[in-house]
Amino acid sequence: MLVSVPGSWHNVMVMPLADWAEPVARHLLKEPLTRRWAHTRGVARTARTLAPILGEDADLLLAAAWLHDIGYSPALAITGFHQLDGARHLRDVEHADDLLCRLVAHHTCAINEAEQRGLAVELVREFTLAPPDLADALIYCDMTTGPDGQDMPVAQRLAEITERYGPGDLVSRAITRSAPVLTAAVERVALKLYDHERSRLADVRAIMALKDVGYALPHRPVHLVAS
Ligand SMILES: [Fe+2]
Repeated sequence: MLVSVPGSWHNVMVMPLADWAEPVARHLLKEPLTRRWAHTRGVARTARTLAPILGEDADLLLAAAWLHDIGYSPALAITGFHQLDGARHLRDVEHADDLLCRLVAHHTCAINEAEQRGLAVELVREFTLAPPDLADALIYCDMTTGPDGQDMPVAQRLAEITERYGPGDLVSRAITRSAPVLTAAVERVALKLYDHERSRLADVRAIMALKDVGYALPHRPVHLVAS
């Protein structure tokens, strides 16, 4: 997916969506929220590993990874519900791609936290759900990346969130309710990656086998015949 930006040949230049998203997220997160920025960089790193199973959606997913937590930025935090604050900023200020806004709005089972905050009606009225495959991919990236950007198994990530917010916090309640859905999404994506890698290795083995056959062919001398 490409995004138009002003200021170049014919006053319009197209660039990958992720190349536009990264500096937007950096501007909003790096200075005020160092740890959140480290997490975001880790989520983007994980998103890049999904490119082989996403095809032409790889750029969109990477852009969503960069932008998924911008709603935590003090510059955007209006409701305190980061998925909605981030998505509204992307829609109303950045005029971003609709699907990108929907991915950010609903990322990581946002509906459960929206219910806890009394914002579920606003969320579903303003943003429809993203396609399941893309929603799963973003969950995989967010739920296998720790708060400092490190790789982390999903069970440890869920426990880490609950511990960080405390057992009585509404975020902890929402993530506990979301845990089965989040875990299943991570498992689906991991299985897709496994299947893709297995078929890739099968292709490599087939190529190597063909080469072996080629090497085993008896040498056939080439007779140069003078004409
Ligand atoms: Fe996140």
